[in-house]
Amino acid sequence: MAVFPLLLCLLPLAPASAPPQPATSSPCPRRCRCQTQSLPLSVLCPGAGLLFVPPTLDRRAAELRLADNFIASVRRRDLANMTGLLHLSLSRNTIRHVAAGAFADLRALRALHLDGNRLTSLGEGQLRGLVNLRHLILSNNQLAALAAGALDDCAETLEDLDLSYNNLEQLPWEALGRLGNVNTLGLDHNLLASVPAGAFSRLHKLARLDMTSNRLTTIPPDPLFSRLPLLARPRGSPASALVLAFGGNPLHCNCELVWLRRLAREDDLEACASPPALGGRYFWAVGEEEFVCEPPVVTHRSPPLAVPAGRPAALRCRAVGDPEPRVRWVSPQGRLLGNSSRARAFPNGTLELLVTEPGDGGVFTCIAANAAGEATAAVELTVGPPPPPQLANSTSCDPPRDGDPDALTPPSAASASAKVADTVPPTDRGVQVTEHGATAALVQWPDQRPIPGIRMYQIQYNSSADDILVYR
Ligand SMILES: *[C@@H]1O[C@H](CO)[C@@H](O)[C@H](O)[C@H]1NC(C)=O
Ligand SMILES: *[C@@H]1O[C@H](CO)[C@@H](O)[C@H](O)[C@H]1NC(C)=O
Ligand SMILES: *[C@@H]1O[C@H](CO)[C@@H](O)[C@H](O)[C@H]1NC(C)=O
Ligand SMILES: *[C@@H]1O[C@H](CO)[C@@H](O)[C@H](O)[C@H]1NC(C)=O
Ligand SMILES: *[C@@H]1O[C@H](CO)[C@@H](O)[C@H](O)[C@H]1NC(C)=O
Repeated sequence: MAVFPLLLCLLPLAPASAPPQPATSSPCPRRCRCQTQSLPLSVLCPGAGLLFVPPTLDRRAAELRLADNFIASVRRRDLANMTGLLHLSLSRNTIRHVAAGAFADLRALRALHLDGNRLTSLGEGQLRGLVNLRHLILSNNQLAALAAGALDDCAETLEDLDLSYNNLEQLPWEALGRLGNVNTLGLDHNLLASVPAGAFSRLHKLARLDMTSNRLTTIPPDPLFSRLPLLARPRGSPASALVLAFGGNPLHCNCELVWLRRLAREDDLEACASPPALGGRYFWAVGEEEFVCEPPVVTHRSPPLAVPAGRPAALRCRAVGDPEPRVRWVSPQGRLLGNSSRARAFPNGTLELLVTEPGDGGVFTCIAANAAGEATAAVELTVGPPPPPQLANSTSCDPPRDGDPDALTPPSAASASAKVADTVPPTDRGVQVTEHGATAALVQWPDQRPIPGIRMYQIQYNSSADDILVYR
C-alpha cells in the first residue's frame, strides 16, 4: 500500500546511496546499504519495507541483514549461491514459510536469526546444509513442532539454540541430546509438560539452560545438574557456572524433587504449585524434609467377580499416593499382565480381559507402586460355564455332528475344519490359510451354501504374544 509511493520518491535517491558497483558485483538492492568495496562484503536492509528477499543480492556477501521487514517466505532461490555468508538476520519479519533447502548453500553460515516470525513448524529439510551454524535463534515464533531431523546438519556445531517463546509441547529430546557443543539452550516460555530423564546428560558444554515458564510439574535428575552445587553462582563463582532457570513452572514439590532442592541456591524465584500445603511457597525456602511422597493406598477394587466363559471381564483397582501410583496386574499364575490380544491394562488401573476362558479364573493381584512404596490388593474372578444360546432356534436346525455351533466354547482347530468340510461340496473342502506372513494370514472357507443355524465362526490361533490359544 504505502510501499509504492515510497519507492517512487526514493528512486532519485537510490544512485546517491548506492555508489556505482564494480562490474563483478550485483547492484545494491534499493533501500539497502551495501559494503561491497572491501571485505567483508555486507548487505544491510533493516526496516526497509521489503516484502521479499531482494533478488539482486551480491551473492558473495558475508553479512546480510533483513530484520524488521515484511518478508513472508524464504524461497529456495532467495539465498542460493551465498556460500560465503556468515551472518543472516531475518528477525521480526512475517515469515511463515521457509522452503526446504532454502539455506542449503549457506555452508559457511554461523548465525541465523529467525526470531519474531510466524513459523509454526520446522521439518527435516528447512535447515539442511547449515553445517557450520553456531547460533540458531528461533524465539518468538509459533513453533508447535520441531522435526527430529531438523537440526541434524548443525548438531555438531550449534552453540546457542534459542527456542523460547514458542508453542512447543514436545521436543525431539533425543536430537537435542546430541548437541554436544551447545552452550546456551533456551526452552523457556513454551508448553513443555515433561522432560525425559537424562535428556541433557550428554550436553557437556551446557552453561545456561532456561526452562522458565513451561508446564513442568517435575524435573528428573540429570547428570548435568551434578555440576550445579559446585558451580551455581555462589559469590565469586566462575563465569562458566551452569545456570539453570526453571521458575514459572507448576512444580509439584514431593520427594522426587529433593535432589533439586539439595542443590541449595537462594537467589531464584522458583515456587511450588503443589501439594496444597506447599503451594505458592518459594522452592528454596521449603525445607528438604518437607519434600515428601505418600506411599500408595488401594482405595477401590472390584468385588469378587463371576462371568460366563467367553464374556469380557473388567477388574478394577484404584490407588492413591504421591506421586500417582502406577498399577500393574499379576495373573493367578503369577504372570505380569500387559496389553495383549486378550487383555488391556489401562493406566487408570483397570484390567480388561477381552474374552474369558474357563481356565482364567482365580485370584488376580493388583500392585500399585510409586517412589515411596507399593500396595497390593486381590480380586477374585470366577469364570463359569458359557451361557446357553439365546438367538438361535435350536429346535429348527440340525446341529452339526461336532457339537452345538452356537456354543462359545470353541472346537479345536481340527474339528473346525472338519466341520466346515462336512458341509461343503467335496471339490473345495476345508479351510485354506494363505498369504501368511509374520503377523497376518488370510483364512478362507467356502460358505456358498447356507448352513442352517450357523451365525458365527470361531477362529482359534496360537499367538506368540499370549503363549496360549486365542479364540475369536
Ligand atoms: C547460482 O549459481 C548457479 C550456477 O552458477 C546459477 O545457474 C544460478 O543462476 C545461480 N543462482 C542465483 C540465484 O544466483
Ligand atoms: C495398553 O493400551 C492402552 C491403550 O489401549 C494404554 O493406554 C495403556 O497404557 C497400555 N498399557 C500398557 C501396560 O502398556
Ligand atoms: C479406565 O480406562 C478405560 C479406558 O480408557 C475405561 O474404559 C474405564 O472405564 C476406566 N475405568 C475407570 C474405573 O475409570
Ligand atoms: C423357532 O421355533 C419355533 C417353534 O419351535 C418356530 O415357530 C419359529 O418360527 C422358529 N424361529 C426361527 C427363527 O426359526
Ligand atoms: C500353541 O503354542 C503352545 C506354546 O508354543 C504349544 O504348547 C501348543 O501346542 C500350541 N498349540 C497348537 C494348537 O499349536
